[in-house]
Amino acid sequence: MDINKIFENNNEWVAGKLSVDPDYFKNLAKGQDPKVLFIGCSDSRVTAEELMGLHPGEVFVHRNISNMVISTDLNMNSVVDFAVNHLNVEHLVICGHYFCGGVKAAMQPKDLGILNPWLRNIRDVYRIHKDELNSISDENQRYNRLVELNVQEQCINLIKIASVQKAYKERNIHVYGWVFDIHSGRLIDLKIDMEKELKDIMEIYDLG
Ligand code: CO
Repeated sequence: MDINKIFENNNEWVAGKLSVDPDYFKNLAKGQDPKVLFIGCSDSRVTAEELMGLHPGEVFVHRNISNMVISTDLNMNSVVDFAVNHLNVEHLVICGHYFCGGVKAAMQPKDLGILNPWLRNIRDVYRIHKDELNSISDENQRYNRLVELNVQEQCINLIKIASVQKAYKERNIHVYGWVFDIHSGRLIDLKIDMEKELKDIMEIYDLG
C-alpha cells in the first residue's frame, strides 16, 4: 500500500464534502454533540461510523482488542467519563463481532506474551459461562456464543462504573450489547435486559 494514496483520498474526500456543502468543515469545527458512545473492537473490518451509517460528529468512539471494559484501563475509563459526564451521551453501545481474533485467541490455552493479561479478561468471561459454553459441541457455535457473552459481560462491566450508574439513575441512559456479523454485514441487537442485569449486580456493585 502506498501511504501517499491516503492523502490523495483525503483530498478527494474534502472536495466531495465541499461540493455538497461548502460550510461542511466550518460547521464541523464548531464542536461535537454525539448522542452515542460506541465501544468496539480494533479489528479493521469493524468500522464504527460506516456500519452504523453515521457521520463525523455523531458518535464518540473507543476501540480496543475485543471491545473490552476493564476496570483498570485508564484509557477506557477516561473515554466513558468524558462521554457520560461531559458530552452527555444517551446511548452506550458495546459492539462485538463474530470472527473476533481476540476472542479466538482467548479460547486457546497458549502463552501469548504481553497479550496474556488482556486476554485473561476474555478467559474470565469463558470461566463465568463455562457450563453453557462447554455444552455447545460445535466449535464455531461456541466461538460465536463467547463473542456474544463477552459483549454481555462488557455491558455489565460498563454499569459497574460509578459515573455510568449515576447517569443511569439521573437521566436514564441506555446500554446496548450488539454484535456485528461480518459474514452478512448485519448489526445484531443481543437485546440484553440491562434493567435486569443492573438489578442483579447492584447487591455487590452499587456505588451510589
Ligand atoms: Co475483534
